[in-house]
Amino acid sequence: MSYPSRSYAQDHQLSRTDPERFWGEAAAAITWIHKPALVLDDPADADGGSTGNAAPFARWFPDGTLNTCFNALDRHVVAGRGEQTALIYDSPVTGTRREYSYTELTELTAKFAGVLRALGVDTGDRVLIYLPMVPEAVIAMLGCARIGAVHSVVFGGFAANELAARIDDARPKVIVSASCGIEPTRLVVAYKPLLDRALELAEHQPESCVILQRPQLQASMTDRDLDWQDLMRAGLIAPAECVELKATDPLYILYTSGTTGRPKGIVRDNGGHAVALRWSMANIYDVGPGEVMLTASDVGWVVGHSYIVYAPLLTGATTVLYEGKPVGTPDAGAFWRLVADHQVKVLFTSPTALRAVKRDDPDGELIAGYDLSSLRTLFLAGERLDPATYEWASTHLGIPVVDHWWQTETGWPIAANLRGLEPMPIKPGSPTVPVPGYDVRILGPDGRPLPAGQEGAICLKLPLPPGTSQGVWGDDRRYVESYLSAFPGYYLTGDGGYLDDDGYLFVLGRTDDVMNVAGHRLSSGQLEAALAGHPAVAECAVIGVEDPLKGQVPRALVVTRAGWTGSAEQLATELAARVREQVGPIASLSRVDVVAGLPKTRSGKILRATMRQLADGGDPAVPSTIEDVAVLDRLRPVLHPSEQNPA
Ligand code: COA
Ligand code: AMP
Repeated sequence: MSYPSRSYAQDHQLSRTDPERFWGEAAAAITWIHKPALVLDDPADADGGSTGNAAPFARWFPDGTLNTCFNALDRHVVAGRGEQTALIYDSPVTGTRREYSYTELTELTAKFAGVLRALGVDTGDRVLIYLPMVPEAVIAMLGCARIGAVHSVVFGGFAANELAARIDDARPKVIVSASCGIEPTRLVVAYKPLLDRALELAEHQPESCVILQRPQLQASMTDRDLDWQDLMRAGLIAPAECVELKATDPLYILYTSGTTGRPKGIVRDNGGHAVALRWSMANIYDVGPGEVMLTASDVGWVVGHSYIVYAPLLTGATTVLYEGKPVGTPDAGAFWRLVADHQVKVLFTSPTALRAVKRDDPDGELIAGYDLSSLRTLFLAGERLDPATYEWASTHLGIPVVDHWWQTETGWPIAANLRGLEPMPIKPGSPTVPVPGYDVRILGPDGRPLPAGQEGAICLKLPLPPGTSQGVWGDDRRYVESYLSAFPGYYLTGDGGYLDDDGYLFVLGRTDDVMNVAGHRLSSGQLEAALAGHPAVAECAVIGVEDPLKGQVPRALVVTRAGWTGSAEQLATELAARVREQVGPIASLSRVDVVAGLPKTRSGKILRATMRQLADGGDPAVPSTIEDVAVLDRLRPVLHPSEQNPA
């Protein structure tokens, strides 16, 4: 199937004026069990949507039925491409390389789906997946999709507390995990004790845990634990067929950091997700069947869900699952080695990863050692792409380096340079233009649209396109409060920025208390909750401050309880350890300062954004609502040591 041949401007216009036609056409790229007659069910329509949609979001293809796993696997086998490689597992940290054809991946997935069924997992039940970057993670995700179970993958770098919070929210019937992950800095990271600890902390208990025993470490098993290999042994359990699901049935829940300490379970549907991701591969990434995509992220993040697992497989492409780092496994040539070895057409990674490569190989000498003739485009996302990193990559690779902007909630890019549809000139610092389906508006504080060049809140006019969030798991009210309340009729992205005269978008960073550490999204509230439990802490604030490698790193300001007489240095060490233990090693505090007070508004809101801008060397306007300006003035030299203390 090929998409209608139109220009970017025509597609973007059509997606806004006639979304039913635009996405109805795109739906033809997916194999449906029951073809949808209805494309869009928008609650904003006069009658509450064509089916009386009571949800606070648009539902796509509401009368269609399909199976996502069928579209990602079986369909390609049926079409005669079963021998083509679906997945390449490349793991320098274990010295393993293995290719899975579509036939083989389908068989393994059907078998694991059968295992889940035998464990009592039914359509709609949740399965939590806490696995490192191993093929079993993909098999487990697709196995869930096959039987209509809702997977929730948790990133391995999160600690037991975070895992427990997700277990209690998703209430999984089964948890799938492994004995260990492999991290170059810490070698073997035992996962099973983290899972056991999380289950001690959680109220909800799964019926069983399936544990993948890796050769690097044997986990000790309890009565509830079952060995992946034992369960998968041929002949014991019948493989499961794909079940028929409504397009609007949930495919997965993926937790992300909101502005509070409580993670938000972003829900994705089956039909809209399949249609949108398939469209994005052809029109944004320009990857077709049989071509190879390497997305160097982790299956625990949305980038991994969409562009390691679902989109390449829905396309019939080959995806590379890389268990390694951009540097140190063994060196900064790792990505280039992967491109050359696997004939990668598109590489997608984060600016942080590229900065690490640039740091270790500033002159790009390692690049010259590999044949990169297959590589057409480098895509970057997850955080702002700084101009120096952009220049370095474009100069040394000599191919388009494409920044694109999106978030867990949208599941696929909001703004991009559409390399398949109509490549556009690149403006460094901009992720180019709004993708068809997204009506990007810049709004001022009063909700009025701002003219080109003026900075404001980046919002998306409703309805959002297919593939975007179908609410917060079990909490539609929270979805409305977080995203739809600030400006009625718009989705609030949480990012600030502007559109220029050519319609290019510039994203300037979060306007809320979310930070981005090495491409990992964390919230102030999440880290502050870990600090607040320390007996010496009366009050605290965590802000994300600029860092040359990781983009941002978390920094804490702490007010101690009256009468506390301990050492600030010791307290800093203890607090840093708490954050690692309770949130995870990816959230290591860069610095802790004990201060006399925190600046607040008169209603008690801590002025984190003002402190963050001061720490980054900026000169923010002091909010008129500040309770006591002297508190802020005393903090200036602490936040940014070159500042003079006005007192
Ligand atoms: N499981 C267990 N631990 C993990 C982990 C995982 N999946 N991922 C990271 N960690 C641990 C690391 O081992 C490290 O532990 P340490 O502090 O004891 O050494 C800690 O978390 C911090 O890891 P990381 O943020 O990866 O920093 P680093 O200094 O080890 O590596 C980079 C620096 C730049 C190489 C690394 O941050 C990186 O690859 N970043 C790109 C990430 C990315 O692509 N994100 C985009 C997602 S879309
Ligand atoms: P996540 O949900 O983890 O994917 O994080 C989404 C957030 O990361 C966005 O809201 C942005 O703040 C940031 N982000 C992602 N991609 C970009 C980009 N290309 N440019 C600037 N910020 C980005």
